[in-house]
Amino acid sequence: MRGKLIVIEGLDGSGKATQTELLEEYLLRAGMPVKRLSFPDYAHPSSVLVQMYLKGEFGNHPEDVNAYGASSFYAVDRYASYLKFWKKDYEAGCILLADRYTTSNAIYQMTKLPQSQWYEYLDWLQDYEYGRLGLPQPDITFYLDVSPEISQQLITRRYHGDESKKDLHERNREFLQQCHLTARFSAQKLEWSCIPCMAGTRLRSIQEIHDELTGKIREMIQPDYPL
Ligand SMILES: Nc1ncnc2c1ncn2[C@@H]1O[C@H](COP(=O)(O)OP(=O)(O)OP(=O)(O)O)[C@@H](O)[C@H]1O
Ligand SMILES: [Mg+2]
Repeated sequence: MRGKLIVIEGLDGSGKATQTELLEEYLLRAGMPVKRLSFPDYAHPSSVLVQMYLKGEFGNHPEDVNAYGASSFYAVDRYASYLKFWKKDYEAGCILLADRYTTSNAIYQMTKLPQSQWYEYLDWLQDYEYGRLGLPQPDITFYLDVSPEISQQLITRRYHGDESKKDLHERNREFLQQCHLTARFSAQKLEWSCIPCMAGTRLRSIQEIHDELTGKIREMIQPDYPL
C-alpha cells in the first residue's frame, strides 16, 4: 500500500514549519508511520542550484532566472530527495508531511509569467514533476492563507529585523504581493484545501490552526490509518 503525501503550503512565514512539526508530533503520538520533509532540501547538495539562485548568483532579481529555469532547479532537488530519502517509505505506506512541494513553484515561479499563461504553466508544471519525473502527487495540499503584510512581518521578526538575512524572494515586497495572487489562483485551480489563518487583520493562534488541520487530516486518512 502506498502512503499518503500531505503538503503544507503558504507564503513565507505563514507557519508551514510550525504546523508541519506539530502534525508530525500528533501523528507519531497516534502511532502512525510518519516522516517530515522540507523543501528546498537545504541539508543536502541537491539544493545547490536553488541556493545559488536565492543568493542572487544568476542576478539580483527573481526574474533573472525565468519561470521554467528556476522551477527546474526546485524540481530536481525534490526528485533527488525522493529517490534518496523517501521513495521507499512512501511505497511502504508511510505518511509524508511536506513543508512546501511542487506547489511552491506554482506560487513563486508563476509570478514571472503574464496571467494569460498561468493555465499553461500549471499544466506544464504538473506534467513535468508528477508525469515525467514521476514524483508522487499530493493526496492533499493545505494552503495556509495569510495576508502578504503578515507574511512580511513574520519573516522580518524571524530575522530579528536584519534585512540582510532575507533571500532574493523575501526581500522583494512586490514579488511577495504577486505571490499572494498566484497562490490564490493555484489554490482554486489545483483544489488545495484552504486554511484561513487570519481573523480580521490578526493571525489565528497556532493551536487553533493545528486543530483545524488535524480535523481535516483525520477525515482524509481514515480508514487506512485509524486515528
Ligand atoms: N499562528 C501563528 N501565530 C503567531 N506566530 C506564528 C504563527 N504561526 C507561526 N508563527 C511564527 O511565525 C514565524 C514563521 O513561522 P514558520 O517558520 O513556521 O513559517 P514558514 O511558513 O515555515 O516560513 P518560511 O516560508 O519562511 O520557511 C515563526 O517565528 C513562528 O513561531
Ligand atoms: Mg519554513
